[in-house]
Amino acid sequence: IVDKILPIRYESKDMMMAKKNIDWAHLSFGYIPTDSRYVSYWKNGQWDDGQMVNDSTVTINESAGVLQYAQTCFEGLKAYTTEDGRVVLFRPDMNARRLMDSCDRLLMPSFPVERFLDAIDKLVIANQDYVPPYGSGASLYIRPYIFGSGPILGVAPASEYTFRVFCSPVGPYFKGGMKPLRLMVSNFDRAAPRGSGHIKGGLNYAMSLYAGHVAHEAGYSENLYLDSTRTYIEETGGANFIFVTKDGTLVTPKSPTILPSITRRSLMQVAKDYLHMETEERPVKLTELKNFAEAGLCGTAAVISPVGTIHTHDGDITFGDGISVGPVVTKLYDTLTGIQMGRLSAPGGWIHQV
Ligand code: PLP
Ligand code: COI
Repeated sequence: IVDKILPIRYESKDMMMAKKNIDWAHLSFGYIPTDSRYVSYWKNGQWDDGQMVNDSTVTINESAGVLQYAQTCFEGLKAYTTEDGRVVLFRPDMNARRLMDSCDRLLMPSFPVERFLDAIDKLVIANQDYVPPYGSGASLYIRPYIFGSGPILGVAPASEYTFRVFCSPVGPYFKGGMKPLRLMVSNFDRAAPRGSGHIKGGLNYAMSLYAGHVAHEAGYSENLYLDSTRTYIEETGGANFIFVTKDGTLVTPKSPTILPSITRRSLMQVAKDYLHMETEERPVKLTELKNFAEAGLCGTAAVISPVGTIHTHDGDITFGDGISVGPVVTKLYDTLTGIQMGRLSAPGGWIHQV
């Protein structure tokens, strides 16, 4: 794909941009290297000034903390082109704060919020030709991450760290876009009680690979993970759950071992303030699934992905007819993406213009 990327010109209301010649409408969620990425190094107790670089490769010591003991965490956010041609980010300060929480739990130095926001701005400006145009259905996925780059041998935090941010134009995370997903209840647990489920550490994703493989082999898109007592619904490998009751209440699982999704926290507010819905964040039992009228996944990559069927040990639970997107999930999707792409006015501080 990359060899074929040539600059072409796109017109928007406010500016002329030389966009890369990418088939935006048919992008999947995959890595396409762009021109530049941001790098900063932590050494002797402090971060250096940071800079944009062109090299997409990383050279580190063979005994780096990340390679031996998985000392790494990351974030995921997106840049969008709005209807009036601006390039915006959705609540990037929340990603900055969550990255700090992940770093604290992994005994890594955190990257200050203001510097995080500055790095993202620099990255998006340097790669603006890769920001998909408004209405294309694609967005620019931004991946900040911190890892132990200094050598260690005994189990201990590394002595040096690297913060990097790269980006990649992406389409839908799940094949088929808004086609309702088929999930299965996993026999594996994603996170231990009092473990690392609430942070975005690479270790959680490494642990989910085998379970994800089992689900894919069985013909499902993703796993529904339960808590360690196998009673309560947790989340999937890369998104939180939302459910709609038959009387229209939006319900989302509350658990100390799931990732606090920025999309989910935003949606709960959008449901209340924009759609005047009742909302509940509470422990949700697996046995309640049959009571829900609609189900969906939410996250930066997943946006809102409708769920059609969940395979449980007691048979399949289907939401609606299992193949159409329900009315409430549709309304939530339209409202959230309307805010993200500038079609609807956003709550104060939610939209950061690059
Ligand atoms: N849960 C997991 C395990 C994730 O990896 C993600 C993605 O970041 C989410 C939930 C959704 O979080 P957010 O809405 O902040 O992207
Ligand atoms: C995101 O939504 O940003 C994530 O990090 C999920 C990941 C599994 C792609």
